[in-house]
Amino acid sequence: MKRIAVLASGRGSNFQALIDAIGAGTLPARCAGLVTDNPQAYAITRAKKAGIPVTVVDYSGCAGKDEYEAALLEAMDRCNADLFVLAGYMRILGAGIVSHFKGRIINIHPALLPSFAGLHAQRQAIDYGVKVSGCTVHFVDEGMDTGPIIIQRPVPVCDGDDEDSLAGRILIEEHLALPEAVKLFCEERLMVCGRAVHILPP
Ligand code: GRF
Repeated sequence: MKRIAVLASGRGSNFQALIDAIGAGTLPARCAGLVTDNPQAYAITRAKKAGIPVTVVDYSGCAGKDEYEAALLEAMDRCNADLFVLAGYMRILGAGIVSHFKGRIINIHPALLPSFAGLHAQRQAIDYGVKVSGCTVHFVDEGMDTGPIIIQRPVPVCDGDDEDSLAGRILIEEHLALPEAVKLFCEERLMVCGRAVHILPP
């Protein structure tokens, strides 16, 4: 069975979706650890409840980005995971980490990439006036939200939506998309050809 580790900075509802899917037997994986940059993250409480080891790599305790990245890489290495899942991890991973774990890091983003990369994707979608947004799970490369796309789920933008209402409806789809993408990885059914990710039959 594949080992996954999760990087999260905050509330951790996507992390919880993975814990629940593993618990329900629908995701054939073991969660080897949570790594967080935020000592206050609610994701830590979720990990403890599920008996998942937690490593906090506190940015403020490091003397700059290089030291932080070195500590983070060490923490990730210690998880001994096949796959790292960024689930609300609010920092950009350095190129050194991305290349060290090449093809083994995925991220969930609350928009249909390549639209609305970066922060406040739901607000960007509202401000732009699109009629459909959604979520994307993708492999992580050196760019910001630019790696090959694994799964997308659309969500209509309704008249009268604000950032919060849209974010809430997108989150429901995120909680389906992320375990599904992790499952495909764990079943070795993802084949990356350039920018395209082909999903192989079971
Ligand atoms: C999600 O919207 C995710 O797409 C984005 O950050 C948010 C994290 O939410 N990257 P949670 O911490 O998983 O509840």
